[in-house]
Amino acid sequence: MEPVEQLDRAAAEVARQNYAIEVEVRSEDEMGRLARTFNTMCASIRQAREELIRQERISTIGRLSGSIVHDLRNPLAAIYGGAEMLVDADLPPAHVKRLAGNIYRASRRIQELLQDLLNVSRGKSGAPEPCRLREVAAAACESLAATAEAQGATLALDISPEIELPLERSRMERAFVNLIGNAIEAMPGGGEVRISAVLDAGSVLVHVDDTGPGVAPEIRSKLFQPFVTAGKRNGLGLGLALTRQTVLEHGGDLWVGSAPGRGARFSLRLPAAHVVQPQGIAV
Ligand SMILES: Nc1ncnc2c1ncn2[C@@H]1O[C@H](COP(=O)(O)OP(=O)(O)O)[C@@H](O)[C@H]1O
Ligand SMILES: [Mg+2]
Repeated sequence: MEPVEQLDRAAAEVARQNYAIEVEVRSEDEMGRLARTFNTMCASIRQAREELIRQERISTIGRLSGSIVHDLRNPLAAIYGGAEMLVDADLPPAHVKRLAGNIYRASRRIQELLQDLLNVSRGKSGAPEPCRLREVAAAACESLAATAEAQGATLALDISPEIELPLERSRMERAFVNLIGNAIEAMPGGGEVRISAVLDAGSVLVHVDDTGPGVAPEIRSKLFQPFVTAGKRNGLGLGLALTRQTVLEHGGDLWVGSAPGRGARFSLRLPAAHVVQPQGIAV
């Protein structure tokens, strides 16, 4: 085969992204030098490609660990803080009992998170069960109560106890923790987070409103993409992306608006909601 023809075919292979090709160096003239250069070029493309794949793997691992850390941080902080108080302070029995309860619930949440992770890696997601929306939101409020209090933020839950719908309970609770947690973080000087819900033609419309500064305009258009964060020292930018994914997988939708007056309003719509008889006691 003519050297030029050989080079031409090799170049066509490279164009098809086959970089394993090598041309034969038959002479020491210009053609030979060209063939050698061609081979060196292919070798460096191969190397760069392998490096890129390695980097991509590292970055995927990094992103995944980021998301796990994100989910574990809240319950772990509750356990750490509670245990620290139990060790350091001489507390009245009622207080000890409350702290022990917090630690118990936070450990249970970590266990659920780990189970979720296992399920994700096995490609399984939990089956939805009939849940009272108020209970799920209340559990989220409870796990953030200490954080809110420390920051002078009040949490107001305005959801009728009669609204029931099929939910993956622990995932949806985490979705609320993300939304309410963000609202608290947006109000370092204190304020109010109000979680409200109305039934609307077979679905439920939920609002999480706050009295903070609202979402920064520069991230508004890409707010639900992973790794979008602003105005925080340790923001990972995963909370809203994960929350939206959870809501979408429930057949619902999540979007951002402006709270009446000032602040941010995150709204979610979830299908298949209905009213059941009140439970006798207030939840
Ligand atoms: N209630 C809110 N008020 C103002 N900004 C918010 C609110 N919720 C979310 N944001 C903005 O959206 C960004 C992304 O949120 P999120 O995905 O939870 O990631 P992270 O909290 O780790 O930054 C936050 O960094 C913040 O700038
Ligand atoms: Mg967040």
